Amino acid sequence: MLPLVLDVDTGVDDACALLLAARHPGVDLRGVTCVGGNAPLEAVVTNTLTVLDACGREDVPVAAGAHRPLLAEPHDARHVHGRDGMGDLDWPKSTRQPDARHALELLRDLLLEAAEGPDPERITLVTLAPMTNAALLLRTYPQAARGLREILFMGGAANVGNATASAEFNVFHDPEAAAVVLQATTELGIPVTMYGLDVFYEPRVTRQFAEAMIATDDRGPAGLGGRLIRYQCERFHSDAATIGDAGAVCAAIDRAGITTRSLPVRIELSGDYSRGRTIVDRRDWSGDLTHDPHGSPPDPIEVALDVQAGRFAAQWVRTVSEGVA
Ligand code: RIB
Ligand code: CA
Repeated sequence: MLPLVLDVDTGVDDACALLLAARHPGVDLRGVTCVGGNAPLEAVVTNTLTVLDACGREDVPVAAGAHRPLLAEPHDARHVHGRDGMGDLDWPKSTRQPDARHALELLRDLLLEAAEGPDPERITLVTLAPMTNAALLLRTYPQAARGLREILFMGGAANVGNATASAEFNVFHDPEAAAVVLQATTELGIPVTMYGLDVFYEPRVTRQFAEAMIATDDRGPAGLGGRLIRYQCERFHSDAATIGDAGAVCAAIDRAGITTRSLPVRIELSGDYSRGRTIVDRRDWSGDLTHDPHGSPPDPIEVALDVQAGRFAAQWVRTVSEGVA
């Protein structure tokens, strides 16, 4: 089993990721933490609870975290994800309440329980949103790192951005948080993998598959998953749509599905047109960095540069539809 915690800003594709994690028999989904991003925090919490309800996973604790970035002004993405943040689907909203703890305390408790339990283990934290919660966790409760196997974050790009020409949405929404996470994980010795836009759009599911999922399981998890894909196809006038954040969960489950390089990554915090950019240093030469005005690069992280898109798309359809690995 893979002990997993997701940090989300549910979001159409966060919902796809939650469906996969909640339905995969090899994933031990310990908890989900929410942050403002695609939509305001309250909507993110409701959407997250709604998806877990659809999967019959009321057992998974959901906690609300940061409602805004550390420093940047929040600008949500409801123009992409719909007024309710999850595609404005014909789907009943959860009426459950989240865990009474703040996301930071839920994360601390889950990670320390894993590290200090009778059979010590480490949890994989997959962040699918602005990294505000993760940054606050690592600075507030650094001891919780004992329970972390790695942080796999959906964010950044070695090449083209989406929120701006230069920056990817999750990092652009809270660049300071991303910079804190990269620095704190280096200090704490936590491995990091970046699942960025270079792979994010590749795993795609067709409208045809989406309609089949709806037809076979209209009001169940597959029906919800099909509606999420249908929403994106209609919004982008396309016959297929990315599973987005769900690809990062696929990478946590099936590491062989991505190809990574160990590369230094810096976060641009200033710059009129470059703020929020992940500067992935792919210079291959072992050049004379003494003349590099930025000095020695930071410790490298694993950057995903290729993905077996069909493998991940098939994984998502299979697991969300049938609840199998
Ligand atoms: O840039 C893509 C990311 O931004 C995804 O996590 C999507 O859900 C949005 O949050
Ligand atoms: Ca997201």
